[in-house]
Amino acid sequence: MDFSKAKGILGEKFSRDADFLSSVVSKLKLVKNSKVLDVGTGRGQMAILLALHGYQVITGEPEGANWGDWKTPAKKVNVEDMITFKPFNAEKMPFEDASFDAIFLYATLHHIGNKKLALSEFLRVMKPKGILIIIELTDEGIEVVRERWRGHPDAVDPKFYTKDLVLELSVIESKYLKAYVYNRIINE
Ligand SMILES: C[S@@+](CC[C@H](N)C(=O)[O-])C[C@H]1O[C@@H](n2cnc3c(N)ncnc32)[C@H](O)[C@@H]1O
Repeated sequence: MDFSKAKGILGEKFSRDADFLSSVVSKLKLVKNSKVLDVGTGRGQMAILLALHGYQVITGEPEGANWGDWKTPAKKVNVEDMITFKPFNAEKMPFEDASFDAIFLYATLHHIGNKKLALSEFLRVMKPKGILIIIELTDEGIEVVRERWRGHPDAVDPKFYTKDLVLELSVIESKYLKAYVYNRIINE
């Protein structure tokens, strides 16, 4: 389905960040049969957006997390069949080493308990030439969320947890969101 039509159907909640998320996904130029993982399903914004871009997505969050209904919006824009839900904890994931070409976290890292452990899991399940994309709120983004949810945790800067790792980083920034895009440095 056309992206702007999907935004119209899914409404304000989906549309608010959709243009930024979509521009990040477009910039990555992933091939269409890429194996894509979305960590922290929530209401499925990231998974649905990836599916609208034509990617098959595996998405998950801990068993019983019940953060929201992702299936209803996915059905509304005809991408339910592109999304596979599998319950998992990012700190110990049920995937083989080197399984994924791209791993996305959208507004999820700050909710994970042991972030260092989760990062080592992302790198374990990422293919050698894969990418890890961590999208976090900026301070202004946090302020906006706190108008609705006063106790929302602070955003985290993934660099704090990745400083000892041999990774290349580029950052794509908007007023409310920052995307940290990590690659492994491979000396060939
Ligand atoms: C604000 S929501 C993320 C929004 C979501 N990415 C989307 O696209 O709509 C935060 C998510 O983090 C998930 N989460 C929290 N701890 C987690 C963990 N240890 N492993 C995986 N997901 C986790 C929650 O279940 C929730 O789905």
